[in-house]
Amino acid sequence: MKRFLFALATLAALTSCKNEKQDEAATSGDSAGEVNVYTHRHYASDQQLFAQFEETTGIKVNVINASADELIQKMTIEGKQSPADVLITVDAGRLTRAKDQGLLQKVDSDILNNTVAAHLKDPGNEWFGLTKRARIIVYAPGRVDSTQLSTYEDLATEKWKDRILVRSSENIYNQSLLASLIVNNGEEAAKEWAEAMVENMARAPKGNDRDQVKAVVAGEGDLAIVNTYYIGNLLNSENPEEVKAGESVKVFFPNQEGRGTHINVSGAGVARYAPNKENAVKFIEFLVSKEAQEVFANSNYEYPVNEEVQPAPLLQSWGEFKEDRLNLSKLGENNKKAVLIFDEAGWK
Ligand SMILES: [Fe+2]
Repeated sequence: MKRFLFALATLAALTSCKNEKQDEAATSGDSAGEVNVYTHRHYASDQQLFAQFEETTGIKVNVINASADELIQKMTIEGKQSPADVLITVDAGRLTRAKDQGLLQKVDSDILNNTVAAHLKDPGNEWFGLTKRARIIVYAPGRVDSTQLSTYEDLATEKWKDRILVRSSENIYNQSLLASLIVNNGEEAAKEWAEAMVENMARAPKGNDRDQVKAVVAGEGDLAIVNTYYIGNLLNSENPEEVKAGESVKVFFPNQEGRGTHINVSGAGVARYAPNKENAVKFIEFLVSKEAQEVFANSNYEYPVNEEVQPAPLLQSWGEFKEDRLNLSKLGENNKKAVLIFDEAGWK
């Protein structure tokens, strides 16, 4: 109940925040209009990009920041009255959920179709990946020899007992990783994997991806499963301890001999009832442009979806890697199964 009340309070706060923004927009008298962006992303790179978009197009960007679940709930409650034009999330699973709930609409854009690879977008063109991230292994080089590492599946073998650090199963990145194992190996194998992983954990899951890296460095475990950009962010942190943590681990891309490393995207879709649909499409097209992709790549260490743009030098220094080209909409489709398997396996 407490949680529900909190959610309601958050929604009320979001709504009042929105109204203020609308009022501002209404009095600005900007002829190019506006675009209302509901986003789960909260990086400095995005502020910079939104300002660039405003400057080049004259379209005012109104931003509502909250978690994807809160934004989806807000859009559902608002229904046809929703001012949302664009929904941005940090994973494909939530975009698929928004699509399934009828909150997005199909977009016909040559720019988006030509720039975003087929496996990185919704097959029905209701959402498009903006940036890629790989879910990799980082390890303590003194305690793990890279030749011992190979696949996600191998992490469930006995040699890793009590050595693995990974965050909670409530986290969407883990749910999507398990969803990819369900699709690639089948439900039964995915369940066995999750159970064995629980046995191999160095501690009960806690903290975010950064905390897992810090725990490797502190010696609580020998390796961790994390998203690539966290390593970039640690190495470029203003906090010297975080820099040290980033420097103390090495990265390993699993499943290179087989299907490739599991990836996910941060992506965007146009809202079903978008009052400014044309601006919404322009906005998403801008975000996959070379200009915008450079910013994503170099200030948040994400892999660009636009192949004309190079990843940041740090990511290039890790070498090229083979990615699992499973259509990311499958992650959303298998999300419920993944959550159920995590529960059964006792992955907290
Ligand atoms: Fe993240």
